[in-house]
Amino acid sequence: MDRLDFAIKIARKVGKLLLSEWGMPLTVSHKSSFQDLVTDMDKKVQELIVESIRRKFPSDGILAEEGLDESSENMWVVDPIDGTVNFVYGLPSFSVSIAYVRSGEPVMGVVHLPAIGETYYAVEGRGAFKDGERLSVSSRSVLKESIGLMGFFRDFSGRFLSEIEDRVVRVRMLGSIAVGVSYIAAGKADFYVAKRANPWDVAAAVLILREAGGKVTDFNGKDEGIFGKKYVFSNGLVHNEILKVLRKFG
Ligand code: IPD
Ligand code: CA
Ligand code: CA
Repeated sequence: MDRLDFAIKIARKVGKLLLSEWGMPLTVSHKSSFQDLVTDMDKKVQELIVESIRRKFPSDGILAEEGLDESSENMWVVDPIDGTVNFVYGLPSFSVSIAYVRSGEPVMGVVHLPAIGETYYAVEGRGAFKDGERLSVSSRSVLKESIGLMGFFRDFSGRFLSEIEDRVVRVRMLGSIAVGVSYIAAGKADFYVAKRANPWDVAAAVLILREAGGKVTDFNGKDEGIFGKKYVFSNGLVHNEILKVLRKFG
């Protein structure tokens, strides 16, 4: 079995397990603050994914959000639940994100949305797909026809929103970078602005978006990989307009 089939299979398997506690997790604890939630399901699902990888691909490295850093040249990058807050509260935008990274570049990525029942995936050079259907970014080229997505970031979201709210059709906060960026790949939204990202949040989605024809940069417009902090993800066509708005923020 190749790595893509393996990743889709394990993501769907743990997705079923996640649904058994969706909106009613048995345990919730806090990491860095009252806003930073983690459940035993985050850890359990990570463990299941990690065990499976170790069994099938024992020489691969693994970097996973819940305290596992066995990084190497060829490694898996795993976020067991991207959107834990949504998972805890019973909202549907959460995902299992699994990527395979060679020399720092994602070459395979899977983002599975258990509550919505969709799986987005890509392999480098082979296009991006959702459940067998080829994905392509939107062709919207002006902000006034666009929908933007963003994260929830203290000292930033409010300012960005007030700058952008009169220029776009809507802005949404979905609560999972991996879901939001996959939606841009599918042409359901046109840009996403994120700060304080981690490799496990973006590794799979960066590849899915690139393979769907989208663009991934930092706030200065420089191409970004999976180890950035500040990101603009877009269909490519509205990218410069967003960068212009962001320039005001330094
Ligand atoms: C979070 C989500 C959220 C983003 C945060 C991430 P988590 O991941 O992707 O949308 O704004 O920066 O940390 O904690 O649910 O895995
Ligand atoms: Ca995450
Ligand atoms: Ca997570």
